[in-house]
Amino acid sequence: MRSPLPPKAYIDQAWFERERELLLTPLWQFIGLKTMLEKHNAFITRTIFGIPVVVQNFDGALQAFENTCLHRHNPIQSAPQGVRPLVCAYHGWGYDRDGAPANIPFEATLYRFDQTERACLHLRRFALECVGNLVFVNLSADPMPLKRQFGAAMLATLAASSLSYDSEVIMTTYHARFNWKLVYENLRDAHHPRYLHARTLNQSVTFNAAVDEAAVEGVRNMARDGTGGPARALALLRAFSGGGRDAPMEKAAPEPWHQHVERYRDQDWYYNWLVYPNLHIASGNGGYSFTIEHHLPVGPDRTDIIVYFMTAKKRQPYASSPAVLLGLMQGTDSILREDVGVLEDIQRTLHAGSRPAHLGDYETTNAGIALWYMEVMEGKIAL
Ligand code: FES
Ligand SMILES: [Fe+2]
Repeated sequence: MRSPLPPKAYIDQAWFERERELLLTPLWQFIGLKTMLEKHNAFITRTIFGIPVVVQNFDGALQAFENTCLHRHNPIQSAPQGVRPLVCAYHGWGYDRDGAPANIPFEATLYRFDQTERACLHLRRFALECVGNLVFVNLSADPMPLKRQFGAAMLATLAASSLSYDSEVIMTTYHARFNWKLVYENLRDAHHPRYLHARTLNQSVTFNAAVDEAAVEGVRNMARDGTGGPARALALLRAFSGGGRDAPMEKAAPEPWHQHVERYRDQDWYYNWLVYPNLHIASGNGGYSFTIEHHLPVGPDRTDIIVYFMTAKKRQPYASSPAVLLGLMQGTDSILREDVGVLEDIQRTLHAGSRPAHLGDYETTNAGIALWYMEVMEGKIAL
């Protein structure tokens, strides 16, 4: 079928802003790992669709705030992560766990706010929820329950698998030049690895793209009749996320470090969790290590991909663990560059007059997302 998404959806700034308002802001968004936030004053900052967010630990309680000082808009925490009190470096305003300035140096002599102005000094606070080791925030004023977005089964598998992550993590960021939707479409396309990753991923895992006749009929009906009301629209949204065992692997090649970690489950499977809209978690070696890809939309043709690598939990510390993580990062780099390369090529070809994509029957997941997404963008589905 022809994709209902016009080329504008991938290249247009006004479209991107509307998407942020109607789709991305109402949805819960991954922001980081709980193990990175364990100490008092530990923090993570990320810019989510242009909004700077800080998650900070106050004596064990995690709070999410807009990372903008109330005085003159300086980011209160400037590093991507670290351990530091929530104090602005510009003029020293310090904030408490409610987001109010607990300390404004020289307040009485230099600022002299009247009581009314002082009383309304509060950082904008965002809803925050932890799912196992994964921390999610929601930037909307009236957040939907997390369960409504993901469903109980998805939350349970995310919680169980993420609690297997070791706390030693290595991270990197790819500044990619493509629209964020191209990544989730790519991740839900099991047919490309045999071509694009013929010399890498496809050597160890066999992905079998297949046609699901019931899904084909479902998508045809949806194209004809629409998604069919708010309850159905939410059920569809939940169906866009899922995960667990994905494809059988050749027996995981034994590595000396495997003996040092508590493997997640004990099966030679490629594990894959797709968290709509912009998170992908995988274990490409049968549960010995994990990769998280967080796709952060920056602009219509810009996406930052923040990638985390960690093994399963260590049995005890071992000397070569940093080298193991570096090896995992290098191993994934070649696969990721194959994906990023083709998605950047696609982005470069798109222009306002491009024809819509022609999706095959094996691509019902992407076709379903596209039909649903267009209803969100047309205001027919409110999240
Ligand atoms: S801008 Fe933060 S204290 Fe002045
Ligand atoms: Fe790929």
